[in-house]
Amino acid sequence: MRLKEICPIIQFSDLGDERGKLVVIEGGQAVPFEIKRVFYIYESDATVVRGQHANRESEFVLINISGNSKVRITDGKEEYIVELNQPMMGVYIPKMIWKDMYDFSEDSILLVLASTHYDGNEYIRDYDKYLEEVLK
Ligand code: TYD
Repeated sequence: MRLKEICPIIQFSDLGDERGKLVVIEGGQAVPFEIKRVFYIYESDATVVRGQHANRESEFVLINISGNSKVRITDGKEEYIVELNQPMMGVYIPKMIWKDMYDFSEDSILLVLASTHYDGNEYIRDYDKYLEEVLK
């Protein structure tokens, strides 16, 4: 399936020892872009759907550093659902992929690494408009 290849799961290295776990994420290495922005989402719950957009410019890596959530990814043709449930795993989302994040556990902290600074104009928030652009 094409989407699984273009939105791979990334397993980060565990540098932990008897003192606890340590995950290091370096831009341009484990994550295939230089990281320009970091944000995190918490106190969402199982009733909430977030995301609901595609980005013309930004690439992202999503990691549940606590708890779990799901992300539904689509390119307008295929759909792929990833359960984010380990601090050592992430999913890479390139440009022009639609994503919905949902089913947040109470303790969910969803960390997002982005390749760009925020620019609201590069977001496509209308699914029909997204389909029009991505399928043309
Ligand atoms: P939104 O894109 O709806 O968040 P999510 O992707 O989690 O569903 O963003 C919510 C608000 O926060 C919106 O007004 C835009 C603003 N925002 C920023 O100013 N900078 C950012 O980096 C992000 C992700 C959002």
